[in-house]
Amino acid sequence: MKTKVIVARPIFEETLVRLREHFDVTDNQADIAWTKASWAQALSQHAGALTTGSDPVDAEVLKACPSLKAVANMAVGFNNFDVPALTAQGVQASNTPDVLTETTADFGFALLMATARRMAESEHYLRRGEWTQWRYDMFAGAEVHGSTIGILGMGRIGQGIARRAAHGFGMKVIYHNRSRLSAESEAECKATYVSKDELLKTADHVMLVVPYSAASHHTIGAAELAQMKPTATLINIARGGIVDDAALALALHNKQIAAAGLDVFEGEPKVHPDLLTVPNVVLTPHIASASIPTRLAMANLAADNLISYFTQGKSVTPLNTVTA
Ligand code: GLV
Repeated sequence: MKTKVIVARPIFEETLVRLREHFDVTDNQADIAWTKASWAQALSQHAGALTTGSDPVDAEVLKACPSLKAVANMAVGFNNFDVPALTAQGVQASNTPDVLTETTADFGFALLMATARRMAESEHYLRRGEWTQWRYDMFAGAEVHGSTIGILGMGRIGQGIARRAAHGFGMKVIYHNRSRLSAESEAECKATYVSKDELLKTADHVMLVVPYSAASHHTIGAAELAQMKPTATLINIARGGIVDDAALALALHNKQIAAAGLDVFEGEPKVHPDLLTVPNVVLTPHIASASIPTRLAMANLAADNLISYFTQGKSVTPLNTVTA
């Protein structure tokens, strides 16, 4: 009898075909929405799961799932997992690092460009039929090339953004991270390590790429926004909750900072209503890794993580160590 595996959300057909070679698969191609209780109930009937960042596997869910053996997140972020609880229950957890690094860095840069150069705001103006003549200051925004980018969180994606900024746009790159990069990596990214305070005060563009945890909750709130330049832009491609969205909406409304580009939101897919009414913000629905080849690579790596765990006792990109 094949091991039972559930795929929480719709996925590429070819990934399902690959999973079906190894497992008895329950799919959700119909995209039926879960409540936490219905998800826990469905998960409890399976030994493995391919999840997205929106599917919680926390202590409460785990309590209902004593037969669960492996969960593979189709995301590099894994704040939907309680990894210590998974480890305590002997469940292998995995994520999809590396395959999305460059695509996500591309998107961070796209969001920075769109925000600094007011692309969404000006496009809405044009669509509304308000463009009647050219004006010298029409949607004049901030400079990107040659300006200073401050990157908070200098992991793989942060470094990808730094390389684009330094080598492609001649930007000065400053960064802050829990630990400093090696001299070699700093040289490759042309990046200078600074304190968080200095980064907030001196960057023309602040890019957030820190993982979400209780410790990084509201890394950017009212006090931090007050430290930023009034001409600065803030970009969040990290996770909802890294920014206090209510404080940000107020800062944008009061022109305390110039603009923000947000791909992630506190409590998404809900978006703070005040963010929807300020013009100087670019909003996208958590799509930073969404190129077709990258999403396929993520899905297939998540599938490989399940296959590898159930055939060899260890996922390819594990987040914890368990004995099979
Ligand atoms: C997307 O947000 C991811 O963590 O991969």
